[in-house]
Amino acid sequence: MVRYLTGFQPTGSLHLGNYFGALRPAIELQDKGEAFYFIADYHALNTVRDPAVLREHVREVAIDALACGLDPAKACFFRQSGVPAVTELAWVLSNVTPMGLLERSHSYKDKLSHGVAPSHALFAYPVLMAADILLYDSDVVPVGKDQKQHLEITRDIATKFNDSYGNVFKLPEPSIREEVATILGLDGQKMSKSYGNAIELFLAEAALRKKVMSIVTDSTPVEAPKDPAQSAIVSLYRLFAPADKVAAMESDFRAGGVGYGEFKKRLFAVIWESFAPMRQRRSELQTDPGYVDRVLAEGALRASTIAQQTIARVRRAVGITS
Ligand code: AMP
Ligand code: TRP
Repeated sequence: MVRYLTGFQPTGSLHLGNYFGALRPAIELQDKGEAFYFIADYHALNTVRDPAVLREHVREVAIDALACGLDPAKACFFRQSGVPAVTELAWVLSNVTPMGLLERSHSYKDKLSHGVAPSHALFAYPVLMAADILLYDSDVVPVGKDQKQHLEITRDIATKFNDSYGNVFKLPEPSIREEVATILGLDGQKMSKSYGNAIELFLAEAALRKKVMSIVTDSTPVEAPKDPAQSAIVSLYRLFAPADKVAAMESDFRAGGVGYGEFKKRLFAVIWESFAPMRQRRSELQTDPGYVDRVLAEGALRASTIAQQTIARVRRAVGITS
């Protein structure tokens, strides 16, 4: 049976990039194999410094994912910190991780350029992520394109470890859906919580409308033809609307005579409507405050069983135990 694993950082509510890039693919895969999905709270310590905020974000991400269809009866859903052995594995892996491998990390450089303070943990982020993946003997990791290099680093670390200690780890494969590899945000850059350009999944109606209306456009006048290929509006619309509606929007772009405001209204309508069933489920989940905690606690218990086996194998392999 194929084992799928992926993680979401609790840095805020989930956004369209998370949903299309990773959550929806992960939800589809929960029917196809053994699924391990977790909330990467140790990773979030890189950027979240307020304990109350971290707790709140963990809850939000959990509720968002469950509302979207992550089913704890099918997938093991847990908090990363629910299985603390992952930090032990990260330490062991650190020793076979060349500095150069981490120095080449795009994600690290990208975070620094967006003002995140450099810290040891930020630098070592890919090592903890490798530990997440290897601890559960994962086969396939569904992620957005921004995580591709992290998967390559994971494979490199696993190979280094196996070269020194024998065949302890499986080499995982990323699963990146080309059509949703990088979802664009309000400013046409990659959608990301930390860029301030994200559209969250469960905004209230007025807030969602305001966000969609704030998508950055050029100053082409209403009458003039517009290029659909260059538009974040069209690229987001394509995620939701059926092919004929997308074709109609593209031809209205080319024809001219329709302003960006009108296109944004169509986009808002289709997003609002698409998430209606998930919104309903989300408000049901909120009526039972203990539910999320129970799901995550049960998930951690199941995940621990597997983690204990791997960590025992690792301790033996390196000589910590005999
Ligand atoms: P994060 O919130 O950074 O933990 O991201 C969780 C998952 O969402 C990862 O698999 C990311 O690759 C994916 N993801 C985040 N932003 C985007 C985006 N703009 N387009 C596609 N996938 C994304
Ligand atoms: N680095 C991922 C992100 O920012 C989150 C993550 C942490 C993850 N550990 C993981 C994803 C393990 C997949 C597998 O999106």
